[in-house]
Amino acid sequence: MINWITKDKAWELPASPLLGAAARGAACVLELAKGSIELTAVEPSIMRLRYSRSGAFSVRPSRAVVALPTGSVSLVEGKSGPEILAGRFSVDFDRSSGGITVSGSNGIIFSGEGPFLLDRDSVSLTAILAPDESIYGLGEKTGFLDRRGRHVEMWNTDDPVHTPDKDPLYQSIPFLIRFDGVRASGLFLDSTARSFFDLGFSDSERLGISVHDTEMDLYFIEGPSIADVVSAYTRLTGRMSLPPRWALGFGQSRWSYHPESRVMDLALSFRKRDIPCDTIYLDIDYMDGYRVFTWNGARFPDPARMCAKLEMMGFRVVTIVDPGVKRDALYPLYVEGAREGRFCRLADGSIYHGKVWPGESAYPDFSCGATREWWAHAHRPLLESGVSGIWNDMNEPSDFSPETDGDRRKATVPDEVMSDEDGDPRSFALSHNAYGLDMCRATAQAFEEFRPGKRPFVLTRAGYAGIQRYAAVWTGDNHSWWEHLAQAVPMQLGMGLSGVCFVGGDSGGFQGDADGELFARWMEFSALTPFFRAHSFIDSKPHEPWSFGPETEAAARDAIRLRYSLLPYLYSEFRKASLDGLPVMRPLVLDYQNDARTRNLCDEFLLGRSLLVAPVLRPAERERLVYLPEGLWYDFHTKEAVEGGRSIIAAAPFNRIPLFVRAGALIPFAEPADSTALMDFSRLRIEAYAGARGAFELYEDDGESFAYREGAYTLTRYEIAQASDGEWKIHSERICNGWTGACASPVVKLIGGPWKGPGGL
Ligand code: GLC
Repeated sequence: MINWITKDKAWELPASPLLGAAARGAACVLELAKGSIELTAVEPSIMRLRYSRSGAFSVRPSRAVVALPTGSVSLVEGKSGPEILAGRFSVDFDRSSGGITVSGSNGIIFSGEGPFLLDRDSVSLTAILAPDESIYGLGEKTGFLDRRGRHVEMWNTDDPVHTPDKDPLYQSIPFLIRFDGVRASGLFLDSTARSFFDLGFSDSERLGISVHDTEMDLYFIEGPSIADVVSAYTRLTGRMSLPPRWALGFGQSRWSYHPESRVMDLALSFRKRDIPCDTIYLDIDYMDGYRVFTWNGARFPDPARMCAKLEMMGFRVVTIVDPGVKRDALYPLYVEGAREGRFCRLADGSIYHGKVWPGESAYPDFSCGATREWWAHAHRPLLESGVSGIWNDMNEPSDFSPETDGDRRKATVPDEVMSDEDGDPRSFALSHNAYGLDMCRATAQAFEEFRPGKRPFVLTRAGYAGIQRYAAVWTGDNHSWWEHLAQAVPMQLGMGLSGVCFVGGDSGGFQGDADGELFARWMEFSALTPFFRAHSFIDSKPHEPWSFGPETEAAARDAIRLRYSLLPYLYSEFRKASLDGLPVMRPLVLDYQNDARTRNLCDEFLLGRSLLVAPVLRPAERERLVYLPEGLWYDFHTKEAVEGGRSIIAAAPFNRIPLFVRAGALIPFAEPADSTALMDFSRLRIEAYAGARGAFELYEDDGESFAYREGAYTLTRYEIAQASDGEWKIHSERICNGWTGACASPVVKLIGGPWKGPGGL
């Protein structure tokens, strides 16, 4: 008996032996004494392997997967049992042990140890881990980049205290990348039920996967590079679509800014103090008694007028929307939802009421298309008032009513509740992890209805694999602790490796009180992460950029202005990410996987392909160690050339984040202004960093509409290379010239001279 796959459970009942194997259409099916296995090829480098305990496979559409199987599979007799060929994979099923071995074109990528194991409500599988393997991905987790040695759980949980051992948190992305120093492969468990990954925790040489379901639906992805795996995973689960440019600006949030006069004062303060800001977030107190889709008339008498005034000042408004609908016989949304069967029910047909901010509340059943449409439609009072983005919170879903005995995983809708799934009901537990994604899907639909022609902006706390198609993610309720600033780096990097490019955290820390130094350092860091917002708790002291005195204000202003000046670069990188699915905020191991020193490096990262960011993560530090991979680099601030392949000590005065540029990089800049709406993106300058050949594709469009999909964009390829006379030359080529507002001729500045050192010429 094996009892180590989950910490608290014994497993028995192996699913083998094999009774028969047959090709069935584009699939190959192995019939076992208990259940069956089905194999299909999604594409040459992605293979699906499903196990079903009953032998019948679910036809429920996946929340995550958008790719359809295209390949065919064939069955041959192998050495010790059937062998299935699917794309570049071959799968050997060992008749005697029941073990499954999956090989890709470069050798074995999964050495299953034995058969699928079953117990009353779960299926599990184990495989051998090589001693030198790292494990990346798995979404929003505490801890370091390399998850090897951890035991992690997938169960969306509203847990507001993110201590290092805390797991799970709000997001469930059951996707991991295995990397042995040479080759990478991926494994995705497509299940919205509770699942566990034992990553060498119980036994340092074993990987265990278990899911609380009767099926296990796995996708194997071949590398060989980490980037190949992430790219294939995002072909499978979809990619972020290009966000509106304003959403890349800075956002100021607090629980909560109200009434209107306070919001206007806040907006004016940004403008008076010359601090760029694009977005003001309105937290739950804008509502009437926390009734979603209402405005508190006393606090916000004329939201449309307020949004219009703010828009004239270059601000967008984003409002929070929680799923819980207040139980109130006089509240039309509740009455309508109850009448039309929009809420989650118990098996006896009664509406389940939990407890969230509004008190007793019902939970829309977002697993149904009709409910999503209803919910989308309910956004009218917000989006028609001029709100530009929606912030979805509490969508794990959080529920304060169950007894938790200190276990936050229980602070959710109980398993007895049903999820209707468009008329194919099942226990809520089986679709629990999809609730946030389904909610965001409904929210994204609202934009089609009420802001047609404008790109949506949805921000979410909870999500599941594929959430990148609908929303940006912020990492929930962190604290104003230095430890949480440090933790934010690997946490956000892990999300990027899990397909979620548009990610960020509450800058300054949500709970507790930041001091000026922590706030400044956090702003310096967040300004160079994909999603940039300061947010704080209702009881925290003020956390605006000017709340900590002039020195912090100046540092925060500089950080935000640096972000705004880099927007042409960042926007181009976002566009690239929307096409290739690779993260904007990148762990070094993604771009330098042959460099063993990057394996678990997560106190620095790359922003796009060219900038290396080394945030200061401890108090009183005015310098820090920075590892620069092989090649020539430049200090962004001093333009001094630095040879890589070593660690250096970088200066980090209070208002400066260590930042390095790869030789061969071309970085476009714009002149910062109060908001993206007021910036002139037709006047750019480019810094070209000599010392290596390189290229950059500058992407420009109107920043807000979908016209780019019809070709209304400009793409210019800039190249730097050395000419025969030894001088560095810059060459540009318009690849597409579809947007009239593009910069006609940027001012190009060459940084650094001919470089004769290693890694250079
Ligand atoms: C949750 C959110 C937080 C928000 C608060 C009130 O704790 O994570 O960001 O401010 O609810 O809505």
